[in-house]
Amino acid sequence: MKYTLITGASQGMGLLMAKKCATLKRNVLLISLPNENLSNIAIEIRNEFQVSCHYFEIDLTLNDSAKKIFNWVKENNFLVDFLINNAGFGGFGPFESYSSEYIENMLDLNVKATTKMTHYFIPELKKNAPSFILNNASMIANFPCPYKSIYAASKVYVKYFTEALRIELKQYNVSVSLLQPGATPTNDIVKNQIKNGGFFARLSVTAADQVAAKAVMSTLNRQPIIIPGWKNRMSLRFLKILPQSILRLLILRSAKSILRS
Ligand SMILES: NC(=O)c1ccc[n+]([C@@H]2O[C@H](COP(=O)([O-])OP(=O)(O)OC[C@H]3O[C@@H](n4cnc5c(N)ncnc54)[C@H](OP(=O)(O)O)[C@@H]3O)[C@@H](O)[C@H]2O)c1
Repeated sequence: MKYTLITGASQGMGLLMAKKCATLKRNVLLISLPNENLSNIAIEIRNEFQVSCHYFEIDLTLNDSAKKIFNWVKENNFLVDFLINNAGFGGFGPFESYSSEYIENMLDLNVKATTKMTHYFIPELKKNAPSFILNNASMIANFPCPYKSIYAASKVYVKYFTEALRIELKQYNVSVSLLQPGATPTNDIVKNQIKNGGFFARLSVTAADQVAAKAVMSTLNRQPIIIPGWKNRMSLRFLKILPQSILRLLILRSAKSILRS
C-alpha cells in the first residue's frame, strides 16, 4: 500500500497537509515529537477519511532519527511515494543572542533532518515512482533577513537543495517541489510576528489550510516552486525589481518593528 510520509505532522501546516492528502484518499504516515497527541490524530484521520494512517514519534534533531524512521517504514512494508519534509522552526532576535543549543537545533531540524530524510528515502521513491518530494522552505529564502539570520539561511539551503534535486531526480520520475509560504498563522510565535511585523508581514498572510491544500495539489501537479497566496506571488515579483538598498531598508524596518514588540 502506498503512503505519504509527513514530518512535523502533529500541528500546523504538517497536520493540515496530512489531512489534505487523506481527503485525496492517500494513506498517510505521521512523524513528530513524542507526546504530541499523534495517536489520537491518527485515529481521527482513519475514521474521518477512511484511509490507512500510522505514526512514529521521534525527535528529528537527533542524529539517527532519519535512519530509525526509514527502518520503521521498511519493517512495516509501507511503500512511500510522497515525502513531505515539513518539520522546521523559526525564531527571531540578534544572532549573537542565540544560544549554541538553539543554533544547533535549528540547523539539525531545518537543514540536516530534511537532507537525511531525503537521502534515506530517494531509493524508495525511485522504486515506487511516480513519486513526489515536497520540501517546506519559506518566502524568506529569497532575501537576507536581519534578526532571522539562521532561520533565513537554513531555508536558503532548503531552497537550493530542492531545486538541484528536482533536476537530478526528474529522470527517475520523482518530482521534487519547493514550498515557499509567507506568514502563515499556525503557532503563537508566528501569530505574534504577524501582529508586530508591520505592513509586510500582514501582506503575506495566508490561511494555513489554504497553504496546505495548495502545497499538496501543486506538488502532485509537479509544480517546481509553490508560493501560496496571490499577494505573495505579486509582492515577490515587485520586491525582486526593487533596488537592493530599498529592499534591505524595508526588510530591516519590518524586522525592527518585531524586535521592538
Ligand atoms: N508558519 C509560518 O509562517 C511559516 C512560513 C514559512 C515557512 N514555514 C515553515 O513551515 C514548516 C511548518 O511550520 P508551522 O508553522 O506549521 O510549524 P508548527 O505549527 O510549529 O509545527 C511544526 C511541526 O514540526 C514538529 N517538530 C518541531 N520540532 C521537531 C523535532 N525536533 N522533531 C520532530 N518534529 C518536530 C512539531 O511537532 P510537535 O507538535 O511535536 O512540536 C510540529 O508538528 C516549518 O518548516 C516552517 O519553517 C512556516
